[in-house]
Amino acid sequence: MDVWVRKTPLMTATVLIARTTPKTVDAVAVPVGTSGTVPRSLGLNRAALAAVGFEGKPGQTLVVPSGSGPAQIAVGIGDSALTVQTLRNAAGAIVRAAGKRAVVATNLADLDGVDAASAAQAVVEGGLLAGYRFAGIKKEANTAALTQLVLVVGEKRTNGARIGSERGQATAAAAILARDLANMPPAYMTARHMAEKAVEVAHASGLTVEVFNRDQLAEMGCGGMLGVNAGSVEPPRMVRLTYSPRNPVGHVALVGKGVMYDSGGLSLKPSDGQIAMKMDMSGAAAVLAAMGALKALKCKVKVTGYLMCTDNLPGGNAVKLGDVLTFRNGKTAEIHNTDAEGRLVLADGLSLAVEDGPDAIVDIATLTGACMVALGLKVAGVIGNDQSVIDKLRTSSAATDEQIWQLPLEKAYRKQLDSNVADMRNIGGPPAGAITAALFLHEFVAEVPWAHLDIAGPMAVDGDDGWLSKGATGFGARLLIDFATNFVK
Ligand code: BES
Ligand code: MN
Ligand code: ZN
Repeated sequence: MDVWVRKTPLMTATVLIARTTPKTVDAVAVPVGTSGTVPRSLGLNRAALAAVGFEGKPGQTLVVPSGSGPAQIAVGIGDSALTVQTLRNAAGAIVRAAGKRAVVATNLADLDGVDAASAAQAVVEGGLLAGYRFAGIKKEANTAALTQLVLVVGEKRTNGARIGSERGQATAAAAILARDLANMPPAYMTARHMAEKAVEVAHASGLTVEVFNRDQLAEMGCGGMLGVNAGSVEPPRMVRLTYSPRNPVGHVALVGKGVMYDSGGLSLKPSDGQIAMKMDMSGAAAVLAAMGALKALKCKVKVTGYLMCTDNLPGGNAVKLGDVLTFRNGKTAEIHNTDAEGRLVLADGLSLAVEDGPDAIVDIATLTGACMVALGLKVAGVIGNDQSVIDKLRTSSAATDEQIWQLPLEKAYRKQLDSNVADMRNIGGPPAGAITAALFLHEFVAEVPWAHLDIAGPMAVDGDDGWLSKGATGFGARLLIDFATNFVK
C-alpha cells in the first residue's frame, strides 16, 4: 500500500434495547401524529406545538431543549397507517434533528401497527444510516455525532425488537460498508484494495473467497476485464465470493461492476464527468456488502458473488476504438466508445455466473448516464429477461425503500448494437442508452432468469437527506440482502 494512503476508521453507532428510557441519554424522541393525543412527556400540548409550526407530519421534527435533562424531540408520523417506511424516515429525521447529541432514545419501535421486529429493524436502519458520516482523509477525522441509539420498548415487544434490531444492525452495517468503499479516494480503493477488503469481509462473515489476477483472467478468457484494464498500470482483480448454507433453498448469483475509477479511457470524460467516478465501483461494493450480511441474517439461499474490479484509464496500452474484445462466453464486441466499459467487465462476470448454474442472476452497476436522465437521482432502473426475478426485486425495493423502476428489454433495439466486424458494438447510439446497455448484457446470460440494476442515478447524494448521508448512498446493499434472503425458486 502506498505510504501516503492512510487508513480511515469505519464508524457505526451501537444499539441498546431498554424497557425504560435511561437517565443518561442526550435526547429523547417521541412520535406525534397529526391527530390524537400528544405524549405528556413532551411538555407541550397540541396547541403549543401548532403555535411553533409543528403539525406531526411524517418526518417533521421539533427539538424542545430542556434545562438540565435530555432534549425532547417531537417527530411527526402523520395519520395514515404506520409503515416501516414511516418509521425508517422518522428515525432518520430524529438523528438529523439530534444534531451533535450522541445518545438518542426513542420509543418509535414500540408503536402499534408494525410488528416489533420489522419496526425495530426500520428504526435501527434509519437511525444508523442517518448517523453515518464518511471519516474522510483529514488530520482530524470527521466524526459522526451519534454513538448510541436506544430503542425503548415494552415487555411484549422486547423479543421482537431484539431480533429486528440485530437485523437492522446487519443491514445498516452493510450499507455503511458499501458507502465507505465508494467514498474512498481512488488511490485508496484500487482493484487490489477492493480484493483485500473482500478477503477481509469474507473471513469475518463465513464466505468463501477466490481472487483472480490478470494472468488468471487471461487464462479464463475474460477479455472484457483485460480490455478495460489495458490502459491502466494498476492490475485488475476479479473476486468470487460464495455463501453456501446447508440445504440451500435456491441459488442466486450477484455480479457487481467494480470500475474503481472511470476516466472514460481514450473516450476521455471531461473533468466534470470524472469527479464522481471513484464511485463507479458502487455495484461491486453493494454485492460485497450484501454478501457480508448473509450469515448474520441466516440466509437459506446459496449466493455466489462476482466483483469485477479494474480502472478504466487511457494509458499507452489502452484499448482503441475499433478494437475487438473476446469475452468469457466466446462472443466478441467492437469498441466504439471506451467509456461504455461497465458492460465489458459485466459481460465476463455474467458469463462466469451462468456457468455456476444459478436459479437467477442479478447484476448491479453504475452503468449509464442515460438511466440517470430517465429516472433521476433517486430511482434505479431495472431491466431483465424474467418478470418473476424483476418482481422479486421490486418487492425488495418496496421493503427497503431503495427505489427501482422497470424499463423494457426491447428486442427491437438490439440492431442498434450491430457491428460488421464483431458480434456487437459496445454502444447503441444515443436513443434508449439504458436499454441498449441492458441488451448488451443480455447477450451474456444465456437462458438464466436475470435482472440488471442500473444505479448510476442513486449511487450518491449531494447533501444529507433523511437517512441518506452526503456522498455515496450504498444503494443496493439492503435491496440485494432482502432479495437474496427472501428468494425462493
Ligand atoms: N460509469 C458511467 C456511467 C455513470 C455516469 C455513472 C454518471 C454514474 C454517473 C459509464 O461507464 C459510462 O460512462 N457510460 C456512458 C455510456 C455511453 C458512452 C454509451 C454514458 O452513460 O455516458
Ligand atoms: Mn464509462
Ligand atoms: Zn463506468
